Amino acid sequence: MKNRRGFIQTTLAGTAGLVFSRHSGISAATTQSVDSRLEILLDESIGTISPNLYGHFTEHLGGTIYDGVWVGVKSKVPNLDGIRKDLVDQMRKIKAPVVRYPGGCFADSYDWRDGIGPSDKRPRRTNFWLQAESDRSPASHKYDPNEFGTNEFVHFCKLIGAEPYLAANVRSLPASEFYRWVEYCNSPAGSTTLAEERAKTGASQPYNVRYWGVGNESWGCGGNFTPQEYAVEFRRYSAWLPHYGQSLSLIASGPNSDDWDWTRGFFEEIVRKRPSQLGGIYGWALHHYAWNLSRGRTNDWEKGKGDAIQFDPVDWYEILREGERVEDLILGHWQVMGEFDREHRVKLVVDEWGPWYRPGSEATPGDILEQTPTPRDAVFSGMTLDIFNRHASMLHMANCAQLINCLNSLYLAHEDRFVVTPVGHVFEMYAGHQGGESRRTIFSAPSVQYDRDGKPATFWGLQGSASLHGKDLLVTVVNPHTTQAREAEITIRGGSASSAIATTLSHSDIHARNTFDNREAVIPQKKESVVRNGAVVHTFPAASVTALSIHLT
Ligand code: AHR
Repeated sequence: MKNRRGFIQTTLAGTAGLVFSRHSGISAATTQSVDSRLEILLDESIGTISPNLYGHFTEHLGGTIYDGVWVGVKSKVPNLDGIRKDLVDQMRKIKAPVVRYPGGCFADSYDWRDGIGPSDKRPRRTNFWLQAESDRSPASHKYDPNEFGTNEFVHFCKLIGAEPYLAANVRSLPASEFYRWVEYCNSPAGSTTLAEERAKTGASQPYNVRYWGVGNESWGCGGNFTPQEYAVEFRRYSAWLPHYGQSLSLIASGPNSDDWDWTRGFFEEIVRKRPSQLGGIYGWALHHYAWNLSRGRTNDWEKGKGDAIQFDPVDWYEILREGERVEDLILGHWQVMGEFDREHRVKLVVDEWGPWYRPGSEATPGDILEQTPTPRDAVFSGMTLDIFNRHASMLHMANCAQLINCLNSLYLAHEDRFVVTPVGHVFEMYAGHQGGESRRTIFSAPSVQYDRDGKPATFWGLQGSASLHGKDLLVTVVNPHTTQAREAEITIRGGSASSAIATTLSHSDIHARNTFDNREAVIPQKKESVVRNGAVVHTFPAASVTALSIHLT
């Protein structure tokens, strides 16, 4: 397992990195001295922020489904038809728009038929992730009982008000099984044998599932294809899919981080047949994990990783550096796609993103790939969501990997215990961006200066994004500096603030975390900000994420 591929076989808005010494000429609005400045350009629209940029991902992996989402109808843990109630309550709060399921790598080993019909008749199957499980992992993580399948997942989505996004198996099932899964989900009441089977579970009306992934990581665990081979498979799996009046948005399996050849090879092959084939592709799914904290010493997938909770400031900046690469990846893949799709009919989807640390910080020992988020991951997540907002015109969807008990979890749960992580709080703070009009921002702040293994290094001082809903402006800002606050004046070009409320997530200890026993160590604080002469003056604490809700006159 040498690298991820083997393993699973800026324009930064405005002035990123600018060294900004104490600002002069802005004191008209403020009596206190500020060291940073933010400008929101109301008349420079970037596009509408698709609510789906705030999407989620749940895979049959470790404790994500069994224990995380699904506790079972007979459980003493408060549940709604077997689904963890605390989770449903939280996801309603964050206005979860879409959830991807059942994988990940699991998807290309999954037979959807195993997960339908009476629960007690469903087969137990070997989970894709079996080899990674340990003696401490429960049996349901190794041998999937299939208690949670299509019906339960769609029900979960209904409970939280989200759209389901199903990933089809391209590696180990024929295309006909993809058609049948669509038929099971979407054929009208009483029309087909599968519609009748669906009705037996109480769902006579079609689920109308719109989003379908055609495989997952088809360059690796999803079939080990070349991009050309995958393009041919994509054509075959997507040709003449029945749609039953529900238009289907097909998402093709895109590149691993900077694998430009995967993007180029796929699109070249797709248009070689006929450029109109591009019309059948809704999204091109990029995956980017930030995992390598070795500062260039290794690319080994195991050796390069760092710890989730034991880290120094250099590791803090390093994971942010690795994470912010997603901005260049969006721009780079967009450019390559444009070589073949000049009108950019196909948009990008980032259907897996987040930091990935080595094992050791599991809230529940035995849950593989579970890690405990800290303020570092809150800052990472805020930074990433801001990047997505700033590229709203290129992106259709993004799904954080993963929702619960896995990687960049919004929530951790075990039996009757449940906790919202700092990442979960960030999603709540950013929920107001969904459906807003993204506006261009210019950030000017002193950059972070630090020692990176004996060499001077810098990282930008403040970054963020802004969106407009009528007279309400939401500005989200990340201060990555581990020790220094930033005092900023926020001016609105083309508008004027009448009031501003700031919600801030920060902690004096960058290693702080919410645990089952201390659930509120890192929680957001709300307070009114100073508004003078139509501008907002605000101090962004060190290592913080802030959401400023500004009302315009
Ligand atoms: O999210 C964990 C795994 O990472 C997914 O199963 C796979 O798609 C990716 O490599």
